[in-house]
Amino acid sequence: MKRLIDKLANENILSPEEFLYLFENQNTENTLYLFKKADGVRKKYYGNKVYIRGLIEFTNYCKNNCYYCGIRCGNKNASRYRLSEEEILMCCKMGYDAGFRTFVLQGGEDPYYTADKICSVVEKIRKLYPDCAITLSAGEFSRKDYEAFFNAGATRYLLRHETASKNHYEKLHPKEMSWDNRMECLKNLKEIGFQTGCGMMIGSPYQTYNDIINDLIFIHDFKPHMVGIGPFIPHHDTPFASMEKGSGNLTLFTVALVRLIHPNVLLPATTALGTIMENGREMGILAGCNVCMPNISPSDAKTKYTLYDNKLITGAESLSGKESLKERLNSIGYEIVTDRGDFKEYPNMF
Ligand code: 5AD
Repeated sequence: MKRLIDKLANENILSPEEFLYLFENQNTENTLYLFKKADGVRKKYYGNKVYIRGLIEFTNYCKNNCYYCGIRCGNKNASRYRLSEEEILMCCKMGYDAGFRTFVLQGGEDPYYTADKICSVVEKIRKLYPDCAITLSAGEFSRKDYEAFFNAGATRYLLRHETASKNHYEKLHPKEMSWDNRMECLKNLKEIGFQTGCGMMIGSPYQTYNDIINDLIFIHDFKPHMVGIGPFIPHHDTPFASMEKGSGNLTLFTVALVRLIHPNVLLPATTALGTIMENGREMGILAGCNVCMPNISPSDAKTKYTLYDNKLITGAESLSGKESLKERLNSIGYEIVTDRGDFKEYPNMF
């Protein structure tokens, strides 16, 4: 097992059989060895710096009906909201004053927020905060729309691929949604010049180790700039309400593998990880993550953006919690920085 971890650290890839061996032979000793390797690789590229992103959940309207997601259009119990342009700008102001230099505008696929409206918000943020990165996470659009976002000043785009196995994708989504289109979107985003993020849930219904291995191979080949990985957590008003939640340990294990596969990738310690596991965020950092995305949305929005049950909304998940996050990360030897935290192309840049 340790030999395979060393091989992965040296060569950045293993065969599917070798990956499967790793997943099937997890134990405490091997896992700690893997985390230590992942931590070392991350330090080589990013030192002990943890980048923070101010997450603004600007709408929970969504025209999609993903079986796992609490804001799916079929959930008639969801209390819907959307922030106005002014409210989004207010979040940015408070975020900027608190030291955030990246704003992530995340939302459902809300027909009200057309590409033109998104461009208009992005242009305003770009003008007001020329030193900040603007990340969009608003779902699938045409290539033309993505180009318009880029030209308006957006620099990064997050679109989880959800699963690299087409047959698995079809078990998580209704037939109106297409795995091929999602992959096409990711390809377009990267070609346009966005720092592009993909990602997946761990322990989503029907997922096998082979599906996760497909994700790892996809990440190796696609070389995204960011990868968001969190455990699946059921939401009570979805078709997957009674499905089992994903494992925090398996999420950490996968995160550490991703760090070895793609050493300079930006890896967030996700809210879902923090929700499912005591000290999940800190554990994520120790397993190779280097990004935290505190939620800087207004508190009413936070309570309504419920993708899954018991989503963390206080503490380190908030603007006011930045200090506590800072202390918690300091206590394990990491430091939060006021920095855009761009993807680093080359090792040893500092
Ligand atoms: N559990 C965990 N993550 C979820 N997401 C959506 N629903 C859930 C859930 N029930 C993730 C998806 C999506 C991202 C915004 O949140 O991967 O891409």
